[in-house]
Amino acid sequence: MNELIFIILGVTGDLARRKLIPALYKLVNDKQVDNYVIVGIGLENTSVEQIVQASKPYIDSVATVPFNNFAKHFFYQQADFLNKDDFHTLKQLIDQIEQQFDIHNKLIYLACHAQFFCPITTSLIEFGIVHNQSLSQEPWCRIVYEKPFGSDRSTAHEINRCIKEGLDESQVFRIDHYLAKELVGNIAILRFTNRIFEPLWNNHHIDQVQIILSEDIDMQGRGLFYDQYGALKDVVQNHMLQMLALITMEAPMKLSGTYIRDEKAKVLQCVQAVDGILGQYEGYRNEKGVQANSTTETFAALQVVVNNMRWSGVPFYLKTGKALSTKETIIYIRFKMVDCLLAKACPSEPNHLIMRLYPNSTFSIEINVKKPGEFDQVVPIDLAFARDLYGPATQAAYELLFQEIIKGDQSNSVRFDEIEHAWQVIDTFKQMKLPLYEYKKGTTGPEQAEEYASVHNFRWYR
Ligand code: BG6
Repeated sequence: MNELIFIILGVTGDLARRKLIPALYKLVNDKQVDNYVIVGIGLENTSVEQIVQASKPYIDSVATVPFNNFAKHFFYQQADFLNKDDFHTLKQLIDQIEQQFDIHNKLIYLACHAQFFCPITTSLIEFGIVHNQSLSQEPWCRIVYEKPFGSDRSTAHEINRCIKEGLDESQVFRIDHYLAKELVGNIAILRFTNRIFEPLWNNHHIDQVQIILSEDIDMQGRGLFYDQYGALKDVVQNHMLQMLALITMEAPMKLSGTYIRDEKAKVLQCVQAVDGILGQYEGYRNEKGVQANSTTETFAALQVVVNNMRWSGVPFYLKTGKALSTKETIIYIRFKMVDCLLAKACPSEPNHLIMRLYPNSTFSIEINVKKPGEFDQVVPIDLAFARDLYGPATQAAYELLFQEIIKGDQSNSVRFDEIEHAWQVIDTFKQMKLPLYEYKKGTTGPEQAEEYASVHNFRWYR
C-alpha cells in the first residue's frame, strides 16, 4: 500500500504550481498512491482552493478523480521558513494528520530557494518532522531537494553539511528532472548493452561532443528567480553536466543507482572548464523581476574537457539559451574521419551519433554509403532512428521521480559529491568573467557563438 503525506515547502511557487501539484494529481489519478494527504507550506496568505485552481491549467490528463476530491486531501499552512515557531505549528499539524488519516510515511519536498535548504533541514530535524533513518525503516521519511542545490560549490557544501548532521544519505533525494527523461535514462543502456559502441567510445575514435539545450521560452514570469542564477547555474550545472557525466563515465559495476552515481562522481571530478562566451537576449532587462542593469546570461556556449585517459584531447561543447528559435535538446557525438581509400570522392562527413531528447526521443546514426547508381560517389545516410521512444514530458518526469522516491530508488537523484564537483566547473567559468553579448529573441543566439565555433574549428550541430 502506498500511503503517504506529501509535504511541499514552497507550495505557492512556480515549480509547485506548474510541475509538482500536476504530477501529484496524476499520481493520484493513475492510482499510484492509495491514501494520501498533501500539506503545502508557503509564505503567502492564500487558500487550498486558490493553490489548486492555479495548477489546473497545467494538468492535462483525463481526470477520473474529481478535482474537488483532490483538494479535500490538501492542507495549507502559511509559514516563514526562518521562523522556528512555524515549524512547531507544522509539527502539530502533521501529528494531527497522522492520527486522523492513519498515514505515517512522509515525503518532504523543498521546492523553495536553496538559501532556505539549510535552515529548513535543521528545523525539520529539530522538531522531529524528519529523523535519521536507513532506507529499509518503516514508516519512512524521505526528503527531496529541488535544483539548483546551492549557488556555488561552497553553498552546496554547506547544505550537504547540514543534511549530514541529522540525516542518512539514503533518505535524501537531490532532484534533476533530466535524469528521469526517457532518453537520458537510455544513455547508459545504449553504451553498455551494445558491443558496437563501447570500443569506439574514447579519444581514439571520437572527435568531439556537443550537448545542446535550446529553449524558445523567455522568462515566463520567472525573472526574479532566474536573474540570480542565469544559464550556467540554471541548466549547465545540473542537466547538462549530468548528461555529460552519463556520456563520459566508465562502466559501472552494475547499471543501477549507487554504481552509476559512483562513476558519475568520478568523471565529474575530471571535468575542467576551458572557455566560452555568454549571451543575453534583447529585452531581458525589461522582464518582470530582472534588474535594469542585469548582466545575467540567458545564453552560454562553452567548452569543457574531461581530464582522464579516455577523453584527453576531446572537446565537449555545451550550448544553451532562452528565447531562441526552437526548443531542442540534442547530444551530438562526432566520430573521427576514416582514412580515405577511394580514388575519387571521399566522404566529406564523419559518422555521427545523435541522441535527441526533444522534441522527440530518438537515437540516430549517420553513416556513409555508395550513392545509388554511381560507382565511387559517397553519400551520408541517416539510420533514421533506433526507434522513437516517445519520451515523457517534464510533468511525467516529475511523476516518475515521485514514484522512484516512494520506492526508495535513488538512481535518478544526484549524490552530494556529484553536485559539488559540478559546481566546481561552474565556479571556474564564473571566475573567468566570460564576455556577454546581446542577441535577438527567436534567433540561434549571439552571432559571436558562430565566431567562437569557427575560431575553435568546428560547426554547431544546431
Ligand atoms: C529547469 C530550468 O530545470 O529546466 C528551466 O530551471 C528550464 O529554466 C527547464 O526551462 C527545462 O526543462 P525541460 O524539461 O522543459 O527541458
